[in-house]
Amino acid sequence: MQITSTATWKAPDSLQSRLQIQHFSPSEHSPIAVGQDVIKGLTQSPKVLPPQYFYDDRGSQLFEQICALPEYYPTRTEAWILHHYAPAIAQCTGVCELVELGSGSSTKTRLLLDAYQQQGYPLHYQPIDVSAGILTESAEQLLTDYPSLKVQGWVGTYEQALAKLPLATLSQRMLFFLGSSLGNFTPAACDQFMTQIATVLAPGDYFLLGIDLQKPKDILEPAYNDRQQVTAAFNLNMLSHLNWRFQGNFDLGLFAHQAIYNPVETQIEMYLHCHKDHQVSLKELDLSISFQAGESILTEISRKFDLAALQIQLESHGLKPIQTWTDPQQWFGLILCQA
Ligand code: AVJ
Repeated sequence: MQITSTATWKAPDSLQSRLQIQHFSPSEHSPIAVGQDVIKGLTQSPKVLPPQYFYDDRGSQLFEQICALPEYYPTRTEAWILHHYAPAIAQCTGVCELVELGSGSSTKTRLLLDAYQQQGYPLHYQPIDVSAGILTESAEQLLTDYPSLKVQGWVGTYEQALAKLPLATLSQRMLFFLGSSLGNFTPAACDQFMTQIATVLAPGDYFLLGIDLQKPKDILEPAYNDRQQVTAAFNLNMLSHLNWRFQGNFDLGLFAHQAIYNPVETQIEMYLHCHKDHQVSLKELDLSISFQAGESILTEISRKFDLAALQIQLESHGLKPIQTWTDPQQWFGLILCQA
C-alpha cells in the first residue's frame, strides 16, 4: 500500500472511525535530509550505518522472527515481566494515553492494553514506527481485538516523533519504549534522548522503559548468532533496504554477518564483514564507496545495562524511577518513571 507523506490513511468499514495513521513529513521536521546519515556513516572510518535502516517491511518481519528464536531471550523475558506486572503498572499510572516508540508488531503492548482494560480505563494508543506496513497491520488487528480501542499511529523516526508528538487527548500519558531499543544509542545519544523524553512529557506523565541487563557472554553471543541464521539475514537485509531506497548495488554475497560481545563497553556489536575489495554506489545519494577485504560496517550496538546506574541517569534527567521490575534471573528490567 502506498501512503503519501501528508495524507491521512483510514481503514475500511467499522474500524475506520477508531483508526488514524499519519506520516511525519521528513523534510519539515528533520534538519537533515533523508540519506545524509547513510552518506556520513559510509564515508567515515570505520564505516557505520544507523540501525533504523534495519526496519523496512522485510526487516520488521525478520525482527519478529528473531523475537521468537530460542536463543533470543529479551522478548520473552520482557513479556514475562509485563505479563506479571502490567496490572501493577496500570494501577500506578491510572487512566492515561499509551504512546509507544518503535511499536513494531505491538505484541507486548497487548499485555498493557489488557491491564488497562481490566481497570476499566479508556484505551487510547499512539504507536510510532518507521515501518508503515507493520504499523498498519498491527493497528487493524488491535482494533479488531479491542472493541473500545482508539489508535492514532505515526510513521516516522524517534527523532521526528519526539519533535512532533501531538498533545495528549487524555489528561495524562505514558510514553513507553520497550525491547531495550535504548541499547542502540551510544552513551552520549542516550543522554540526549532522555533529555528529549523529559521535554515532551508534562509533569506527572509516565515513561516506561524496557532494558536488557548485563549477563555472561555465553548467553549474549548466541542471542545474536542464532543457529537458524535469522539474525544474519536481518543484518544483511539492511543492504537490500539501502539498494531499493537509494538505488544502490550492494552485493549481499560479498558481506557476512558478525556479532561479538565487547565486555569493556558491555555491548553486542553487529557488523557486516566485507570479504572482497570492491566498489558500491548509491545513485540516489550520488555516492560511491570503496570497500576493502577484511573491512567491516558497524550496523548496530546493543548495550547491556546496569540497572542501578540507569536509574540514576534517568533521575538526573528529571525522569524519576518510581518502580522497577525484573524477571527471576534478572536478565531484563522494566523501569517506570514519572516526569
Ligand atoms: C530491537 C535494538 C533491542 O538490540 O537486541 C536483535 C535488535 N538486533 N537482534 C537488540 C536486534 C539483532 C534489538 N533491539
